[in-house]
Amino acid sequence: MTGKRSLWGSKAGFLLAAIGSAVGLGNIWRFGYMAYENGGGAFLVPYVVALILAGIPLMILEYTLGHREKASPPLAFARIDRRWETIGWWMPVVAFFGITLFYAAVIGWCMNYFVFSFNQAWGTDTGDFFMNTFLQVSDSPFELGGIRWPILAGTVLTWIISWSICYREVNHGIEKASMVFMPLLVVLTFVLVGWSMQLPGAWEAIKENYLTARWEKINPFTAAGSKVWVAAFGQIFFTLSLGFGIMITYASYLPKKTDIVGNALITSVLNCLYSFITGFAVFGTIGFMAASKGVPFAEAIKSGPGLAFVVYPEAINQLPAGQTIFGLLFFLVLIMAGLSSAISLIEAFCCSLIDKFDFSRKKTVSVVCVAGCLGSVVFTTRAGLWILDIVDHFVNNYGLVAGGIFECLLVGWVLKAAIARRHVDQVGGVKLHKGWEILVKFVTPAILIVVIGFALYSELSGNYGDYSTKALLCLGVGWLVGALVISFFLMLYPWGGAKLDCEHEPE
Ligand code: PHE
Ligand code: NA
Repeated sequence: MTGKRSLWGSKAGFLLAAIGSAVGLGNIWRFGYMAYENGGGAFLVPYVVALILAGIPLMILEYTLGHREKASPPLAFARIDRRWETIGWWMPVVAFFGITLFYAAVIGWCMNYFVFSFNQAWGTDTGDFFMNTFLQVSDSPFELGGIRWPILAGTVLTWIISWSICYREVNHGIEKASMVFMPLLVVLTFVLVGWSMQLPGAWEAIKENYLTARWEKINPFTAAGSKVWVAAFGQIFFTLSLGFGIMITYASYLPKKTDIVGNALITSVLNCLYSFITGFAVFGTIGFMAASKGVPFAEAIKSGPGLAFVVYPEAINQLPAGQTIFGLLFFLVLIMAGLSSAISLIEAFCCSLIDKFDFSRKKTVSVVCVAGCLGSVVFTTRAGLWILDIVDHFVNNYGLVAGGIFECLLVGWVLKAAIARRHVDQVGGVKLHKGWEILVKFVTPAILIVVIGFALYSELSGNYGDYSTKALLCLGVGWLVGALVISFFLMLYPWGGAKLDCEHEPE
């Protein structure tokens, strides 16, 4: 790096940025549905076990790696062993091409719906509006069928906002933005939760569908129950933004004396708490809608985009008062949760390029954002929803989890878990228990391998989402392999100067 690596201005700034990355669309539109499908209140058991056995240890690991090497993923990996650099690139490259490009488009959808909220432009048939009027979806992933201009407008705006945040040094850009986004997000979320919970029928639905524990569903010795456990581990990764090198990057800007364990605990626990609390809003709102339309709850609830863009508008239509404000509030929450995650994805990729090529931050971020915006255009076409769904499936089930396995092997075996742990203890704060070494070396990677095995098995037993095999191979497998090829070429380029040497304190 030319000049000194910039640092977070404060401990709170770092934490808010890290939590901002973790708390994203997934907390709002994925967690609640997962809980509902997988045992209601009982789902908290596999979820918390996954948090303890994989989430927190990996969060500590990513923080340690970034902090010890003061580096983005490729540089951190290369400093430990040059041969691992390809993997160090693969994580931010997969994240950028596999998540950021469509994340920006989805935030663009949210911006459109924010505007629609003013007069409930989605009309009475919200499902038909979303698919046929708004997205105008085509018949297959290969039928692009032209650009949807309102979506493109929202997507471009998302890129401009992200650019204007990331192009400043982290302590001015991302830190300041997080200091605004996160408190606002918390306040608005609480308003939304409070409002939803007092709607007629809300509390009954919450109790019945969200909190009641259906223990038989999580019995790991049944076929269905074991899938619940695997799903919990998959979700923990995604929800904590692990496996993409984001937390490595954010931790590389931490000052020398840092409480790594404390920060990892706070980030992980607050993220999961946010999901749990938001669940009250989701179940309350859907419960109210189901009750007022007289439909069963099971028919009303959806996951992902269907929840935000079909079910929520439908529920808003039923509100006795304050429809506009409720809509604005909900979509603003989504936009803020989304933006604070998007900037972390962009930062991890840009920081990697800056570390390797010594480009200036302003130029790198500008070029990356223009290129990213062009890449996002694919997701603003009429095939956008399909491509997004396939890419998301493969990146989450394989890319992310594979990234986690590699990290465990690198830190656990190549660097040696004991050295990493000594680093954590040396730089201050809560001491790291020796059990962490066992988790990182054996337990966590073993669990993650099982998770990938399950995913592969169900992949082979039927095409995901009924897409054609060609679509799955090109867009899913192709995306991951393409990222690997790009990473390999990035690795070949030599590191300038003495960059691979990092001065470590004696450990
Ligand atoms: N953690 C985010 C969520 O729960 C998703 C995400 C993953 C964002 C990785 C950035 C990077 O929605
Ligand atoms: Na999350």
